[in-house]
Amino acid sequence: MNTLAIIGAQWGDEGKGKITDLLGQHADYVVRFQGGNNAGHTIIVGDKKIVLHQIPSGILHEKCISVIAHGVVFEPEAFMAELTMVKENITVTPDRLRISLNATVITTYHKILDANREGQSKVKIGTTGKGIGPAYEDKIARRAIKIKDLFDKDILETKLTHALEEKAYLFEHVYNAEYPSAKDEAARLYEYGQILKEYVCDTFSLIDRATQDGKKVLFEGAQGILLDIDYGSYPYVTSSSTGAAGIYTGAGVTSGVVNEKLGIVKAYITRVGEGPMPTEIAEEIGDRIQKIGHEFGATTGRRRRCGWLDLPILKYAVKASSITSLALTKVDVLSGLEELKVCYAYEIDGKEYDCAYPGLDLSKATPLYKSIPPFTEDFKKDGEYATELNDYIKLIEDAVDIPVGILAYGPERSQIHFRKNYFQ
Ligand code: IMP
Repeated sequence: MNTLAIIGAQWGDEGKGKITDLLGQHADYVVRFQGGNNAGHTIIVGDKKIVLHQIPSGILHEKCISVIAHGVVFEPEAFMAELTMVKENITVTPDRLRISLNATVITTYHKILDANREGQSKVKIGTTGKGIGPAYEDKIARRAIKIKDLFDKDILETKLTHALEEKAYLFEHVYNAEYPSAKDEAARLYEYGQILKEYVCDTFSLIDRATQDGKKVLFEGAQGILLDIDYGSYPYVTSSSTGAAGIYTGAGVTSGVVNEKLGIVKAYITRVGEGPMPTEIAEEIGDRIQKIGHEFGATTGRRRRCGWLDLPILKYAVKASSITSLALTKVDVLSGLEELKVCYAYEIDGKEYDCAYPGLDLSKATPLYKSIPPFTEDFKKDGEYATELNDYIKLIEDAVDIPVGILAYGPERSQIHFRKNYFQ
């Protein structure tokens, strides 16, 4: 196996950063293929907490090359701040961090638009406010600034002037928002271009060569399948392809297939932002899970909504992204609760559904729960679990018909148990 994808199998925040970090030590390349600095991948190294937003989690391993591929929307200012933080922890040379010349740039205009739409519109998505949606809009509308444009001031100014034709009207007449001139924005971005130049290359060819040479390539997904622009719970989604399909458009895999698609699933479920969430727990136990699990957004600090594990959603995610195995994370958070429930199906208009197919209106779903015996574990005895935890894992495996290959039971690098070999 030389290509492996890490895909969020819920609404994001499943613990992808930690798994990518651990598997990244065996990888030659770690590639981000979608999203931008809306992601927040938390990694605990010793007594340090490192949160990565745009830089792939492989950066923390000296032998690993991190790649930001063309499907990413890239924010230069946030990237530079993040790079400075990473460099305080590990040496980063440009040959170890490569950025696609075709990645789309998030400009100041995108951030202003995102903030004002969320602030003033009646329909709120609950975005991270990083300008992600507006940047992808410009990409699809064929007027985006690409990384390669940052190296030419004239091109930048011409393209930004074009981009402003419609946006200036919105800023002035709809949102009453201040905005920089195309000339000033061009000058700002050009300066970043000069600093970024040494990191930029044709990442498609880089990944092509790597896979042809049999190198181990890990594709690091951000967000989760339920936030996918096509497969997710639209319109409460992000604006990119967060599932495995996004790898083919956002990075390219010339060998044709990604061998292993590892879905990351939390032992319960969380969501930030708006949108229906059938198993959301209104009672006090939801607050307890939220507190024990430190469920606050790594990018925005928002409180995450918490719910019981939702098998219909997991079944759908596995199908939607052809997931081949699962990593079950944060099982320690459920340990010791006096009550444990799993949603095995929904009832909608008197009918039962065991898979959250996209035709279903999740806001109408009544979750059907199975109460299961809670488990208490100290997790130190690697791989030997109490019967109750074994049953919990088996219940999940039986529901989705793929193995739970990894069990994570705490934030530390050491608090993980591999039940299957990856990259070996
Ligand atoms: P955007 O990606 O900032 O446009 O936000 C769109 C939706 O995706 C909102 O509900 C966000 O809360 C959610 N979202 C975006 N990135 C993440 C993430 O990394 N984890 C969890 N939710 C996210």
